[in-house]
Amino acid sequence: YDFTMEDVVSLCKRRGIIFPSSEIYNGFAGFYDYGPMGSELKKNVKDAWWRHFVTQREDVVGLDSSIIHNPTTWKSSGHLDGFSDPMVDCKETKLRYRADQLFYAPVIVDGETVGYVCVQEGNDDDMVKAAKKQAKKLKKEKKIDGQAEAFAFKEVIEATEEEMAQIPSPGSGKPTLTMPRDFNLMFETKVGAMSDESSVAYLRPETAQGIFINFKNVLTTSRQKIPFGIAQIGKAFRNEITPRNFIFRSREFEQMEVEYFIPPGDDVWPPMHQEWMDSSKAFLLSVGLREELMGWDVHKGDSLAHYALACTDVTFKFPFGEQELMGIAARGNFDLTQHTEGSGKSLDYFDETLKEKYIPHCIEPSLGVDRLILALICSAYAEDEVGGEKRSLLKFDPKIAPIKVSVLPLVKNKEALVKVARDLYEKLQKRWNVSWDATGAIGRRYRRADEVGTPFCITVDFETIEDDNAVTIRDRDTTEQVRIPLDDVIPYLSKAIDG
Ligand code: GAP
Repeated sequence: YDFTMEDVVSLCKRRGIIFPSSEIYNGFAGFYDYGPMGSELKKNVKDAWWRHFVTQREDVVGLDSSIIHNPTTWKSSGHLDGFSDPMVDCKETKLRYRADQLFYAPVIVDGETVGYVCVQEGNDDDMVKAAKKQAKKLKKEKKIDGQAEAFAFKEVIEATEEEMAQIPSPGSGKPTLTMPRDFNLMFETKVGAMSDESSVAYLRPETAQGIFINFKNVLTTSRQKIPFGIAQIGKAFRNEITPRNFIFRSREFEQMEVEYFIPPGDDVWPPMHQEWMDSSKAFLLSVGLREELMGWDVHKGDSLAHYALACTDVTFKFPFGEQELMGIAARGNFDLTQHTEGSGKSLDYFDETLKEKYIPHCIEPSLGVDRLILALICSAYAEDEVGGEKRSLLKFDPKIAPIKVSVLPLVKNKEALVKVARDLYEKLQKRWNVSWDATGAIGRRYRRADEVGTPFCITVDFETIEDDNAVTIRDRDTTEQVRIPLDDVIPYLSKAIDG
């Protein structure tokens, strides 16, 4: 990347894409607000996903379940007992860290360990840089000569009690970290007027469980037969210990998930799993994710979640490193079995083709809306020079661009010209989200449109009204301009935007 996360965050703020939440109250860690441009972008991304996985398939139907379920749901699903991350506290600063994202290394001088340094997970280079800095400080404090080395990192979670007592907290720099302990990520709330144990409920940490508990309802009302899927888009909440990297890991986010129900059998799920990996990739490319930044990460035995037979992540090379973008899991029949036991209601299925009754297995592609948006912004962000001036732009696929077209009357004090532009604007508005920009030099107006990723600008000028009844359409990426008769504008744009 030749840009940083700061460039991205600053563009998002400046152009009304994403703001820190509650900014007038100094923000609230792990929460974000989508502004006028961001809310359009998000809606377009969700619509594209829904079209790809629900509307354009006969075997997937939609669902919009409540965010708060009967709390027994989370007992059955295993989240109450097991949905936790290992956490360490700094006893001095009270700051909390995810133990599996915290690394330590012995500082070695002339072959001897003189102390420990502690760094948070990041780019390898950044971690080494941070460790070197800390090692230098330690050397100075202890008045030691020689070269300090601190590069052999281990996860804090692996440290012995003895080592832990010497590992400094990244917050205070002093060795005051507690041993790692499990921290449940579910947000608790209370439902109803009673305020005792019985009123405790949870904000869902994934949309998936809403699908499982509605399996029978959907099955009996949708006339679907296995194999078929249920799709849901909606908010999920996790009390992340260290929300980080802008909207990559936040405490309130949105998920787009499918549970695709299939017959049991060791030879049944692998090809289905592959199919969902292929269609997930096709979707990601269709919304403009750059293929060269994508990767695959196959989970091995002990990194699999408790419910999974197999899981493959699609990864993305973010400016802060290669990270999980989405997961495609083969979930077996863990969830439906658990909910059968927990509810006492049978969630089995009679397969008329196989003449057999079974609890269905499932494949689950699960994608975070916000994480995808960050990946799409990183895929689209570019800087170049136009007419000797630096510009930054978002090369969004027209499908997801918040604004498809910006209409620019060359001047705003010529009534006939403004009228033609306004008429065109109103006509386009019926089909797409378009903007009207009549103020400032034309170059400035182009820059504004480029920065929010508007693929086309249409300029109505004197020639339009005096001569050719045509307009100029400028392409965001190439800045090339074509002259198009007014009557041809909609077909031209329609081809470019809707494909
Ligand atoms: N139902 C399966 C499930 O929830 P997950 O790997 O925990 O699996 C799936 O989450 C996806 O949800 C992730 O790949 C990511 O895109 C998104 N996601 C998870 N936690 C997130 C967070 N704290 N902030 C933003 N997105 C998150």
